[in-house]
Amino acid sequence: MTKILILMGSPRLNGNTAELCKPFIQRLEERGAQVSYIPVEELDISPCRACYACQNISGEYGCVQRDDMYEIVREIIAADCIILATPIYSWYCPAKLKAVLDRHYGLNKYYGSAEGSLWAGKNVGIIATHGYEGDYATSPFETGVERLCKHSNLEYVGMYSVQDEDDLASFQTESAVAGAREFADRIMRLL
Ligand SMILES: Cc1cc2nc3c(=O)[nH]c(=O)nc-3n(C[C@H](O)[C@H](O)[C@H](O)COP(=O)(O)O)c2cc1C
Repeated sequence: MTKILILMGSPRLNGNTAELCKPFIQRLEERGAQVSYIPVEELDISPCRACYACQNISGEYGCVQRDDMYEIVREIIAADCIILATPIYSWYCPAKLKAVLDRHYGLNKYYGSAEGSLWAGKNVGIIATHGYEGDYATSPFETGVERLCKHSNLEYVGMYSVQDEDDLASFQTESAVAGAREFADRIMRLL
């Protein structure tokens, strides 16, 4: 069974990004995927301390910070595709999701005695909501994620994004919902 992990980055658990995830998840499940939805705001995740201890531990994540990042790592390892669902904050993502992205270090073993990767080959996509228009709002985050994928030998599978023009209502329109369902179809075809 195809497993999709959605890391939802907004501090608003019932906000715009969560709303846009609903038709996406519904369509994935209609197509037989197993979806795991994690609002990262609810988890205890500290920023990376750049101690590099994880770089000398092979075959496991190896972070010295025993917080909820271990739960996310378990989910990432089990997933075929990881979706970063996020509002754009200051041209990137909110701080908690950024901490999750920084804490990817232990999944790559590039800078110490350990070798190998715990997630090479996984697929990664983006669902974004934003106040500014289209590309102007999303391109810094999308570029960062694309480069992180290249750096980590992951497959970037694309982005679906919708502009916040009228709060929740912007994400409940026929076209927003249809786009989210089409993005789910696109991902399921790719996997
Ligand atoms: C602190 C903060 C920073 C934001 N920064 C940006 C930004 O840089 N670019 C943008 O297009 N929208 C920005 N926005 C607007 C949000 O991305 C947008 O309203 C989004 O849909 C909120 O999603 P949510 O309800 O899931 O949190 C910002 C909103 C907040 C609260």
